[in-house]
Formats: sequence, structure tokens, C-alpha cells
Amino acid sequence: MKQTRLSILASGNGTNAQQIAEYFAERNDIIIDSIIYNKRDAYVATRAKNLGIESFYMSRRDFMESNKVLELMQSRNVDYLILAGFLLLVPENLLKAFPNKIINIHPALLPNYGGKGMYGHHVHEAVVANHESVTGITIHVVDHRYDCGTTLFQARCVVLPTDSADDVAARIHLLEKSYFPPVIDAYITGKPMPVQKEILCE
Ligand code: GAR
Repeated sequence: MKQTRLSILASGNGTNAQQIAEYFAERNDIIIDSIIYNKRDAYVATRAKNLGIESFYMSRRDFMESNKVLELMQSRNVDYLILAGFLLLVPENLLKAFPNKIINIHPALLPNYGGKGMYGHHVHEAVVANHESVTGITIHVVDHRYDCGTTLFQARCVVLPTDSADDVAARIHLLEKSYFPPVIDAYITGKPMPVQKEILCE
């Protein structure tokens, strides 16, 4: 059986990286090869260790001004790159080597609340400040711009008038946990994408 190998790119905490690794842990057809992180103190490195997944630190310069990441990925026969809270713009050499094979999750309903500087908690703060009543997640194929590229999936949750940015973040994390791993699975295997039946209100 042909195995599809994924490398997860992350910059921080790594809850999504862990959820993806746990989802695919028992699979023989899709393997989590490695986790690459670009901040030395990123907690995702500890998660990788606990999960028994090899992890590699690559600096911004390694990504942007060298072929180090590309060569590492090629040497390990990686097929897809999964961005799970990865905050650098993906460089041209990786985009060329992995056409339509780089997937990102963004914690908002793109094209709203996307672009440079719009990541993590900043997104939820902006959503609350603008009194939105609905927000969500977008999973998309990565192109050369921040938070652009073909949308594969969106899921929605409510924003209550009393919500803080932390409240919104908690709901978004539930959506990420429920949908990011199966959407990756569906994209790679050609299975049907999950469908969100109801907007999340919990
Ligand atoms: C996630 O909410 C993810 O959607 C977001 O960063 C968080 C990372 O959390 N990504 C972006 O904002 C990308 N523009 P995690 O490190 O705990 O998975």
C-alpha cells in the first residue's frame, strides 16, 4: 500500500498538531512523518516528543532564505504539508514542490479576518470588537498569499453578545478539533468532505 506522509508545520502551542497526530495514529495509509516548528520555545516541540514524532526546528531564515526545509521534506519522502498554527508565509520553493499539497487552517470565515497579522487570538479579538454574531474556521489550500487559496471546508459557530475573545477561541478550538483532521483525511483520500449540520452554539 502506498503510504502518504504528512509533515505538520506549527509555530506555537500545537493543539491542532496533536489532534491531527492522534487522529491518524492508528492508520497505515497516512503517516505523520514529522513536525517542523519555527520558534525555538514552541510548546509543539514538547507535544511532538510526547507523541513520539520527530520534530525539527527551522528558523525563519531556514524557511525563507535556504532550501533546508525543502531538502528535509524531500529526504523524508513527505507528500503533504499541513499548516497547524504556522505563522510564516510559505516560501516559493515549498509552494512549487508541493502544488496543491499544502493545507492551512484559519480561525475565521475567510476572506473575513484574514491576512498578515490576523492570526490566533488577534482574530477572535477583532471578531468580538466588531460585534459579529457568527464566526468559524476555514480550511484551505495554500498559495503565495496569507490566508488565500481554494477553500476546502468551512464550519461556523455563534458569537454571543457577552462573549470574550477567550470564549470565541474555545468554540473555535472545538470546531478545529472536530473538523481539521477529517478534512485532511478527505482531501488526501478523496472521501467526501465532512458537512457541518448545525452551527455550533455550545
Ligand atoms: C489555531 O487556532 C489556528 O487556527 C490558528 O492558530 C491557532 C494555533 O493553535 N492559525 C492561524 O491563525 C493561521 N493564520 P494551536 O497551535 O494550539 O494549534
